[in-house]
Amino acid sequence: MQQPGTNAAYARTAMRTGSAYLRIVAGEARGVRLAPVPEGVRPTADRVREALFNSLGQFFDGGEVLDLYAGTGALGIEALSRGYERATFVEKNRRAAAVIRENLGRTRLTDRAEVVRGDVRGEVERLAREGREYRLIFADPPYRIAESEIGEVLPLLMALLAPGGRVVVESGGPLGAQQAESAKGVSRRYGGTTVTIFERPEPTMHVAICPGSFDPVTSGHLDVISRASALFDHVVVAVGSNVRKKTSKLPADDRARLIEKVAKPLQNVSVEIMEGLLVDFAREQGARVAVKGLRAGSDFEAEFQQAQLNRTLYADFETVFIMAAPEHSFLSSSAVREIASLGGSVKGLVPDEILETVQSFYYEPPMRSGNGEK
Ligand code: PNS
Repeated sequence: MQQPGTNAAYARTAMRTGSAYLRIVAGEARGVRLAPVPEGVRPTADRVREALFNSLGQFFDGGEVLDLYAGTGALGIEALSRGYERATFVEKNRRAAAVIRENLGRTRLTDRAEVVRGDVRGEVERLAREGREYRLIFADPPYRIAESEIGEVLPLLMALLAPGGRVVVESGGPLGAQQAESAKGVSRRYGGTTVTIFERPEPTMHVAICPGSFDPVTSGHLDVISRASALFDHVVVAVGSNVRKKTSKLPADDRARLIEKVAKPLQNVSVEIMEGLLVDFAREQGARVAVKGLRAGSDFEAEFQQAQLNRTLYADFETVFIMAAPEHSFLSSSAVREIASLGGSVKGLVPDEILETVQSFYYEPPMRSGNGEK
């Protein structure tokens, strides 16, 4: 291996990066010195790599990375060092490909990497045909070809992204209109390098679940459902069929029918029976948010526990609370059941459309004392 100070590569690297050697900045290969940069390769300086990873997230939990125009492989190796599971490096230049292999050896990451010698466009098309997906794609082409080639390749790269994935493009200046057309990126300038990050466009439909026993649905529930319907694209009211420690007099189907009746004017609300875990039901419905009503501090403990438990089952799951309107803050399904069972009026406590049904369904005629007295 050539020694620093004795070769032109060393001098070029030092001039461009401000340091004699490229080093891995963080993670399991932190501090490992990379091989001298081959002729014709423009390496990303350590400080740019560090700043870039500061904005991408410091450490990662698995996933695949694709390093195009890989040069020394420093970007992909940095990603492996910080927690990516596997990396594919694409490099046309034979000497550069050998340096990537050398750097993978130095960082002991050879087992988690594949180095492909070839043309970026052809390789990207092949990976797309194979159905490969990446969470992070680096494209650091020689500046003279950045504009034209990235413009053509970018739509293909966006199609290779896994959910939540990002494409990072390095260029000498802002990318042109051609790129802006195919995807919207956020650019940052680090010295003479512009880094643009493109995110995979995610479906914009935000679905929320309103779960509950709804035994029966109350005016308070309806208020929360309609306020949730104003905040989300779609709301699925989930009627629990196997709620812990609760047996309902009214089957889940009937409880669901009552909700359908009162929520009819809300165009973006549907009602479903939920059989298993809330988080599984949410996944099936393409939702990661549950909306619940909070009436008083006393609700908080139980809701807090459920929200935390649901996050242990589904890390991205969020529970959003809507504060009950003051006039509903003392209203509960159990109070409705009790009043109706004793023949009292629940007018105002449940929506008018279902008042009669609820009154008659939950009414429990008093037991006659059975001693035969007249
Ligand atoms: O109206 P409720 O009784 O407060 O509703 C309770 C419900 C249905 C929201 C809750 O029991 C639930 O989410 N059940 C599904 C089962 C589940 O996911 N349990 C784990 C979280 S505690």
